[in-house]
Amino acid sequence: MTHASVPGVSPELLHRATARFAERFPGPAPRVAVAPGRVNLIGEHTDYNDGFVLPMAIGRAAVLAFRARPDGVLRGHSVAFDETRELAVDALSAPGGNDWLSYVAGVLWAFASEGRPVCGLDVVVDGDVPIGAGLSSSAALEMATARALCAATAAPWDPVPMAKLGQKAENRYVGMNCGIMDQFASAVCREGHALLLDCRSLEARPVPVPAGASVVVMDTGARRKLAGSAYNDRRAACERVVAEMAKASPGVRALRDVTGEELEAAKPRLHPTDWRRASHVVPENRRPVEMAEALQAGDLARAGRLMNDSHFSLRDLYEVSCGELDLVTELARRHPACFGARMTGAGFGGCAVALVREDAVAGFCDAVLSAYRAKVDLPAALFPCRPEAGARILE
Ligand code: GLA
Repeated sequence: MTHASVPGVSPELLHRATARFAERFPGPAPRVAVAPGRVNLIGEHTDYNDGFVLPMAIGRAAVLAFRARPDGVLRGHSVAFDETRELAVDALSAPGGNDWLSYVAGVLWAFASEGRPVCGLDVVVDGDVPIGAGLSSSAALEMATARALCAATAAPWDPVPMAKLGQKAENRYVGMNCGIMDQFASAVCREGHALLLDCRSLEARPVPVPAGASVVVMDTGARRKLAGSAYNDRRAACERVVAEMAKASPGVRALRDVTGEELEAAKPRLHPTDWRRASHVVPENRRPVEMAEALQAGDLARAGRLMNDSHFSLRDLYEVSCGELDLVTELARRHPACFGARMTGAGFGGCAVALVREDAVAGFCDAVLSAYRAKVDLPAALFPCRPEAGARILE
């Protein structure tokens, strides 16, 4: 099989996954499911506050080579960990674990928990989304698994309920209390577009990335530590503010329902840290809508300013940035071709994102990378990304 023409997926990766499958699981050729990682342009830590987000799928993906098995066994091989393991599908129960096979098993468990058809599978798990870098390698694997499972059981692929099942797998089976953004982006995104998602209604609108602008992912090389507990602390702070504000205004169900003025008025009743956290979320909830407007109007300067504001707010109020993310975004902003830059994803390490003049993108990447490397000895990388399509089966 030749894979040279599949957009958004590296041909070497497809070759490696299918070759490994043939070696480990001899027999009929596998089918292949692919689901992208994502970069979030703006709207950080807003999904679990019922706000807006603006992610786009990138050309780094989870690849799952798979074949159904009649005996209810899930047999998985990971290329990254060079490991093969087996589980009985009807014995899966939550919570499971958080190793590589748990993301696959968790999706099987989530399907079964809602009475959807499941089956045994041989799978080879591969991908080129860096792990722990804030580009959603886990959601990509979950959505590739969901896509594979639908294909293997001849069930229709309906991306929105699939994203919810992926989130359920991650929340309940893997034990990470994430919002809906990552799975939604990996399942639903369209080529050439970011996706403006209302995390309350789950209505989504594709937003074209305008000509002349390039989205650059800036991987600091720092990998997040303790992200799970710090993430859950942030969620808990948001929930405490909502509980307090709902006492006076019963209509408040999430920070989405709170205005800046209302938050200011409630300040004396809130713990100072909780107030700071909410002071990030309330304006950030609206920034994706404003950024979508700016992108649609081709106003890249405004889009960039919104990204910068988002970063400063995540750094100073939500306190989820780190020295490497602050440095790389600062170096990016100093470059004349950069409209704006911010950390992306949960934070505490991983990647940032910059909006850059397309005709100057190569020079931008070289200049920022060498300035960063002069100060930080980590395996950093900068790469421009085109907006790619969501999860699919390669035929
Ligand atoms: C992680 C979570 C998402 C979202 C972001 C922060 O990526 O999985 O649901 O909360 O952090 O915006």
